[in-house]
Amino acid sequence: MNKSCFGAFLLLAFLFPASVDCLVRHYNFSVVLTNTTKLCSSKPTVTVNGQFPGPTLYAREDDNVIVRVINHVNRNLTIHWHGIRQLRTAWADGPAYVTQCPIQPGQNYVYNFTLTGQRGTLLWHAHISWLRATVHGAIVILPKRGVPYPFPKPDKEKIIILAEWWKADVEAVVNQATQSGQPPNVSDAHTINGFPGQVPSCSSQGYTLHVKTGKTYLLRIINAALNDELFFKIAGHNLTVVEADASYTKPFETDTIFLSPGQTTNALLKTDQAIGKYLIAINPFMDAPIGYNNVTSFATLRYKKTPPNPKTILTKIPPQNDTPKTKAFIDSLRSLNSKQYPAKVPLNVHHSLFLTIAVGVNPCDTCVNGTKLVADINNVSFVLPSIALLQAHYYNIGAVFTDDFPGNPPFRFNYTGPSPANIQTTNGTRLYRLAYNSSVQVVLQGTSVIAPENHPTHLHGFNFYVVGMGLGNFDPVEDPKKFNLVDPVERNTLGVPTAGWAAIRFRADNPEVHTTWGLKMAFLVENGFGPNESLPPPPRDLPKC
Ligand SMILES: *[C@@H]1O[C@H](CO)[C@@H](O)[C@H](O)[C@H]1NC(C)=O
Ligand SMILES: *[C@@H]1O[C@H](CO)[C@@H](O)[C@H](O)[C@H]1NC(C)=O
Ligand SMILES: *[C@@H]1O[C@H](CO)[C@@H](O)[C@H](O)[C@H]1NC(C)=O
Ligand SMILES: *[C@@H]1O[C@H](CO)[C@@H](O)[C@H](O)[C@H]1NC(C)=O
Ligand SMILES: *[C@@H]1O[C@H](CO)[C@@H](O)[C@H](O)[C@H]1NC(C)=O
Ligand SMILES: *[C@@H]1O[C@H](CO)[C@@H](O)[C@H](O)[C@H]1NC(C)=O
Ligand SMILES: *[C@@H]1O[C@H](CO)[C@@H](O)[C@H](O)[C@H]1NC(C)=O
Ligand SMILES: *[C@@H]1O[C@H](CO)[C@@H](O)[C@H](O)[C@H]1NC(C)=O
Ligand SMILES: *[C@@H]1O[C@H](CO)[C@@H](O)[C@H](O)[C@H]1NC(C)=O
Ligand SMILES: *[C@@H]1O[C@H](CO)[C@@H](O)[C@H](O)[C@H]1NC(C)=O
Ligand SMILES: *[C@@H]1O[C@H](CO)[C@@H](O)[C@H](O)[C@H]1NC(C)=O
Ligand SMILES: *[C@@H]1O[C@H](CO)[C@@H](O)[C@H](O)[C@H]1NC(C)=O
Repeated sequence: MNKSCFGAFLLLAFLFPASVDCLVRHYNFSVVLTNTTKLCSSKPTVTVNGQFPGPTLYAREDDNVIVRVINHVNRNLTIHWHGIRQLRTAWADGPAYVTQCPIQPGQNYVYNFTLTGQRGTLLWHAHISWLRATVHGAIVILPKRGVPYPFPKPDKEKIIILAEWWKADVEAVVNQATQSGQPPNVSDAHTINGFPGQVPSCSSQGYTLHVKTGKTYLLRIINAALNDELFFKIAGHNLTVVEADASYTKPFETDTIFLSPGQTTNALLKTDQAIGKYLIAINPFMDAPIGYNNVTSFATLRYKKTPPNPKTILTKIPPQNDTPKTKAFIDSLRSLNSKQYPAKVPLNVHHSLFLTIAVGVNPCDTCVNGTKLVADINNVSFVLPSIALLQAHYYNIGAVFTDDFPGNPPFRFNYTGPSPANIQTTNGTRLYRLAYNSSVQVVLQGTSVIAPENHPTHLHGFNFYVVGMGLGNFDPVEDPKKFNLVDPVERNTLGVPTAGWAAIRFRADNPEVHTTWGLKMAFLVENGFGPNESLPPPPRDLPKC
């Protein structure tokens, strides 16, 4: 464990022990079936090391992380380190059939990556089918040894993982949806650190956050839910947001945290209220006419020395369609942009893409009406290949993908107006090619095809700056004038507003890694010319298809 990361640093480590002391952190993730009872119902559940949520991965910035994943279940599996930049370690990113073939039953794979330029909280999760519903956990990246947080040092840290729980087998849920072409059944509960809270007709236990009075706690809050955007609120206590997606933010005070699936936020909690018991509420947010799990989950914040049977202090829970609340939260998020942590927003744009995000239909023999719902970007529904894209690219295997992904939709329409008559989409495994170190602007335009809805969108291998956001159709003349190119928040996941748009910028400095969106399209970043600007060969144990 106490081995220096790279031989070349040994001398430096000797000379500057405080600043260069990266470690190799070893973890074993044994993927097993665990009989789990929640909501008065039991099911065999796929977990890591028998835990739900799974084990926390702790490391410091610059550490090398080695996770040996051993698949003991009868399902294909991969693990994605959500938000880790994976500079030149694309083989360790994890999405199935994109950067690797699945780890098949009985097989192992060692994920090997180094944490560079990130500190805060992220999450890891399975990245195949819906296994991530129960196969997920926190990643805590501490600052380098001797480097302080850019905010008052908290007395204690607590991890808060929000998720969704289905009483049914999640694979059965998604398979049924795929077969029928209908939206999948919504979850039965929202969980906090694995606890569903009180649910009608089942007296299940809720989570308790135990605190001492007069302290400052750093809450590392993760939305590991599959589908639902969530509000997080503690009665009687404001929170000070200091970080999002492992990038520091300008601190701001709020009574409610808002997180899309895959997003993480660090916030300071001061336990400066009267000793007692306070309600914690997890409430979903939905402002579109589609099905979702509308059940609020509750937990409690409990001060030490609270007398027995106290009255719980309640709070006003944000309404489930409180769009202004989400907007206020999102607008408050700004990069810290200090001398030490500058926001490096690309000012010149080499590639400018306009991507419409929509739901459409495709023919489907097994489906109820002969059609199934599909998601598309610029009218292309991404079809996963049967061998991993990155391998196909590295080994030059033809006929797996094409690099002609369209940078604009096939035709312009009133994206947020009435749904067009023809909602058929095209299929394709099409990638968009980016030159190494080129800067990219992507405008993500939500559409009302079938129904408007909010789309959480995640970029693998890169962080991006959210330079603008708005409702309705993006105006290519007026809207860019209002872009924030000074201190926009840096993230890896964003929610594109319902019937609205978001503009992001990033630099394609992660060579040859191709990356995917949640609603799937892929970038192929070409090699650079320097020694550290190309993708190394795959590890020997990379799973085969
Ligand atoms: C992982 O498992 C191997 C084999 O059982 C064992 O030798 C090793 O010590 C374990 N590592 C950790 C970090 O638990
Ligand atoms: C799972 O747990 C339930 C409830 O405790 C029990 O009835 C059932 O037998 C268990 N199943 C297995 C396979 O252990
Ligand atoms: C992890 O990757 C580094 C860099 O390629 C390599 O030096 C190291 O040996 C690898 N570690 C393991 C355990 O595979
Ligand atoms: C989905 O919900 C429907 C209606 O409640 C139910 O009949 C069906 O069994 C559920 N599917 C799964 C896989 O649980
Ligand atoms: C909590 O923060 C809100 C701003 O979001 C502010 O209006 C309110 O006064 C604060 N409440 C307390 C108790 O500080
Ligand atoms: C949740 O949805 C169910 C069924 O659609 C409805 O009966 C119930 O009133 C809703 N609850 C809330 C809190 O909106
Ligand atoms: C199938 O189509 C009919 C007629 O358009 C419609 O009423 C029904 O809701 C559809 N069923 C499903 C499951 O989509
Ligand atoms: C687009 O549709 C919206 C909603 O129906 C409407 O308010 C708006 O005027 C339309 N825009 C144009 C340019 O037609
Ligand atoms: C999507 O592609 C299909 C098939 O080419 C076409 O019929 C449809 O009009 C396109 N829709 C949009 C919104 O581009
Ligand atoms: C798209 O691909 C799916 C399989 O991935 C297939 O079922 C469907 O028929 C295809 N749709 C079109 C329009 O080609
Ligand atoms: C990438 O581009 C930026 C901005 O133009 C430049 O500062 C940097 O040196 C470039 N990096 C490489 C490796 O070319
Ligand atoms: C598991 O992955 C392999 C390799 O891609 C594939 O051949 C096999 O069909 C998959 N098994 C299941 C159950 O999906």
